[in-house]
Amino acid sequence: MGDNERLLANEAPAFSRAARVKYYNIVIRSGKGAVVTDVDGNDYIDLLASASSTNTGHAHPHVVKAIQDQAARLIQYTAAYFATENEAKLAPRLAALAPISGPKALAWGNSGSDANDAIIKFARAYTGRPNIVSFTGAYHGSTYGSQTLSAVSLNMSRKIGPMLPGVVKVPFPDPWKRLTDETDDAFVDRMFAAFKLPFETYLPAEETAAILIEPIQGDGGSLRHRRSLWKKFTNLPTITVSYLLLMRSIKAWAEPVSGGPSKILAWNQT
Ligand SMILES: Cc1ncc(COP(=O)(O)O)c(C=O)c1O
Repeated sequence: MGDNERLLANEAPAFSRAARVKYYNIVIRSGKGAVVTDVDGNDYIDLLASASSTNTGHAHPHVVKAIQDQAARLIQYTAAYFATENEAKLAPRLAALAPISGPKALAWGNSGSDANDAIIKFARAYTGRPNIVSFTGAYHGSTYGSQTLSAVSLNMSRKIGPMLPGVVKVPFPDPWKRLTDETDDAFVDRMFAAFKLPFETYLPAEETAAILIEPIQGDGGSLRHRRSLWKKFTNLPTITVSYLLLMRSIKAWAEPVSGGPSKILAWNQT
């Protein structure tokens, strides 16, 4: 038995199976650039990059040095009590970069899931409205709020409901669901009709605080939102919700939704 198997067997009784989407029976010991090495000394080219959170490559020397320098200076101070030097310098730079028009204010969080929970809280508090709309196929995180916004796997809601109230899902324009012989315009019209249906039947627009969109769905299958459909959403005069965008950093800059009335941007990972 190798060290991979031995460690996993040792871990098994103490580790919740629900807490890992297991791809391979390996235990990672180290990473350098695009390669990770397991405890038996096998090297693998890492195309996952810890869910894109280490896109600089593992143990990038600049990142390692920055972490070491910072750890020697100050490991942590909660942003809820004091500003720290780096945070105070970074906040205006991030706010300036965010593709949002008008004044911008930033709140730090612990993770993408935390950021999306914050979106729910900010949107509800700011608008005084209870409902939030998100899309099928979305992955927004795994805290209760962000998991409620998600709709990519039954395992994310099976046995743990009821989830957060006031969250409605509309179909994401998944190009693989385009009908045979359906033109692009007809597909966009069909998706737009599906998007509007809740608002026409049971979801008062004036009670809806936010619509959350991943411009490019990741776990949903690397699917890009349709610009023409996005324009239709944002031009809708009757749906006076606050449009809020959810984006991950890399994808956010890959897909600037310029001109869209985005009010909140959740920014996580590198
Ligand atoms: C699109 C998207 N939103 C939210 C999250 C949740 O981020 P975190 O794992 O930092 O909580 C992820 C994580 O992979 C993600 O891909």
